[in-house]
Amino acid sequence: MTAGVLQAAGEAARQIQTVSWVLFVGALLIFSGVMALLAWSLRRRPGKASARLWIVGGGLVFPGLVLAALFAWQLPMSPAWKPVPPADALVVSVTGRMWWWDVRYRDPANGDDVFTANEIRIPVGRPIYLALASTDVIHSFWVPQLAGKLDMVPGRVQHLLLSADQPGTYRGQCAEFCGEQHARMALHVVALEPAAFDAWLAQQAAPAVAQVTPRQALGRQAFLANRCDACHSVRGLGGDSRLGPDLTHVGSRLQLAAGTLPNTQQGRERWIAHVQEVKTGARMPSYDRLDAQTLGAIADWLGALK
Ligand code: CUA
Repeated sequence: MTAGVLQAAGEAARQIQTVSWVLFVGALLIFSGVMALLAWSLRRRPGKASARLWIVGGGLVFPGLVLAALFAWQLPMSPAWKPVPPADALVVSVTGRMWWWDVRYRDPANGDDVFTANEIRIPVGRPIYLALASTDVIHSFWVPQLAGKLDMVPGRVQHLLLSADQPGTYRGQCAEFCGEQHARMALHVVALEPAAFDAWLAQQAAPAVAQVTPRQALGRQAFLANRCDACHSVRGLGGDSRLGPDLTHVGSRLQLAAGTLPNTQQGRERWIAHVQEVKTGARMPSYDRLDAQTLGAIADWLGALK
C-alpha cells in the first residue's frame, strides 16, 4: 500500500527529491559556516581585518557564486517541469471540483470519454500526461511520491508529466485551500502492470453491470426514484449528468468521497444517509429519510457496479 510520502516512486518526483536534498544539505552547511564565523567574530579582539572584504566577499561574491552554480545545475531539469508529451504518453484529464476529483480517460477502442472519480489508474513505466483543470475554485494536484505540485486554475488547462516505476498505490491530496472540505479532498493514483491497466480501462469503458440480484435491482429502482441520476451518471441507465461523480463503476473504487470513507456496504450506507455529517458542505444532501431497507439496497447495488 502507500509507502512513505518522501519515497520517490517516479522520475519527476526523483528530480524534485534530489533538488530538495541538495538545497537542504547546502543550506545546512552554509548556516553552520555562518554560525561558526559568528562565534569566531565574538571571540576575536577588534583588529585590522577589513570589513569591506567580509561584506563584499561574504555578502556579494559568495551568494552570487552559490546561486549561479545552483541555477546552472538545475537548468537541464527545467524542461521536465514544462512538459511536452512524449508520443507514447497516456493523456488523463483531471478536474478539481469542490471537493472531489473528476477523472477522464479516452477509450482507446472508440475514442469515447471514460469517467471515474477520485482515483487515477496508470500503467507502470509509461509517461502519463495529465491535463489539470478546475470548474470552481483553485485546487492543487499533488501526489508527492510521483510529481510536484501543480495548481488547477479555473479557465485554464495545465499539464503535468509523471510516471510510476512500480505497481502500487500512491496517495495524493489537494494542496490549495479550496473551501471547508479542502482537507477531505484526497485522491489515489494506482499504478498497474500495463496488461492489468488495459483490462481495467476496457472494463471502465463498458456500461454498468445489468445482471444484479433482486435486492440490487430494488436499489437501482430506488436510485432512479430518488433522482440520484440528476447528478450522478451511470452509463447504461440513461441520464448523463456531470454534476457529481460518475458512478458507472463506483464499486471498483478504493474509497468514497475523495478518500473519506472505505468503499464498503457500511461506508456507502453511511455516506448516502449522512453526507452532511461526514463531509459538511458537500454538494449532496443527506438522504436520511430513506428507510433502512431502501438505503441498504441502493448501497448494495452501487457496490455491485464493479
Ligand atoms: Cu481542492 Cu483544496
